[in-house]
Amino acid sequence: MTTGTIEADRALQKKLCEIVTSKTGIQLPENKRTMIEGRLRKRVRALGVRDLRTYLNMVMNEGMLETELPQIINVMTTNKTDFWREDAHFDYMIRTVLPEFTANRAFKVWSAASSSGEEAYTTAMVLSEHAKRKPGFNYSIIGTDLSTEIVRKARKGIYTPEEIVDVPDDMRKLYLEEGHDSVGRPLCRVVKQLRDRVGFAQMNLMDRSYPVEKNLDVVFLRNVLIYFDDQNQRRVVSGVTDHLKPGGYLFVGHSETSVASDPRLVQKSAAVFRKEGT
Ligand SMILES: C[S@@+](CC[C@H](N)C(=O)[O-])C[C@H]1O[C@@H](n2cnc3c(N)ncnc32)[C@H](O)[C@@H]1O
Repeated sequence: MTTGTIEADRALQKKLCEIVTSKTGIQLPENKRTMIEGRLRKRVRALGVRDLRTYLNMVMNEGMLETELPQIINVMTTNKTDFWREDAHFDYMIRTVLPEFTANRAFKVWSAASSSGEEAYTTAMVLSEHAKRKPGFNYSIIGTDLSTEIVRKARKGIYTPEEIVDVPDDMRKLYLEEGHDSVGRPLCRVVKQLRDRVGFAQMNLMDRSYPVEKNLDVVFLRNVLIYFDDQNQRRVVSGVTDHLKPGGYLFVGHSETSVASDPRLVQKSAAVFRKEGT
């Protein structure tokens, strides 16, 4: 392959990355080229295409961009998550947020960038336990994510033994049922009682407005701002804050504290912000 063809391929890939960034906010800089190519190769394999340059040509020069873009976005997202991830937030919810809640309505939570659902289902376990102590307590949880594929996984609520290692034993017994896949490998499914309380939808945080209720009690916006540039971080934090009730809480990832810059937010603890007002 000549230097000229390599450069032409790189230019096509760069153009494709710019399109992905403009739609999703996800930064795909030149120094991540190995990662980006690795992810695009998943599409090459899935379609049985000869190689990456053939695929790039199909997408960028032969009219396949529109149909491929959702799949490209799916492979470009980093979906790492865990049950009880950054568990200080769940302790904070139990110790501070829930005791303050006295409204005569359901407690409402949004897991924005919910990935495969672990954050939303952890919250459901915590709230279900709270409901046992507080008769009449009701709650609803919505999880949203950019990736259509990961939203499908979240809705199923089915996890491998490796994916549930962080679920405490007592919660596992109460809220996960054991089963197996078609070849007998063990799997766990979140019980229907919890799945019924958690809805999932595809949504892009780059959109100008979010089709999510306002007046939420808690929003999780964790480990997603890191993928955006400063301007988009500010815009997303502000857009999400619009959906909090006055006095509602925003949880961001512990490495993202500095980006929660909306003037309506007051920091209450590590990676915990409260929207001013009551
Ligand atoms: C690393 S995961 C974090 C999951 C979970 N919040 C946590 O902290 O464990 C980041 C998620 O953000 C999603 N994401 C990235 N860009 C997004 C966007 N523009 N709109 C909505 N979700 C996005 C990805 O699809 C991915 O599932």
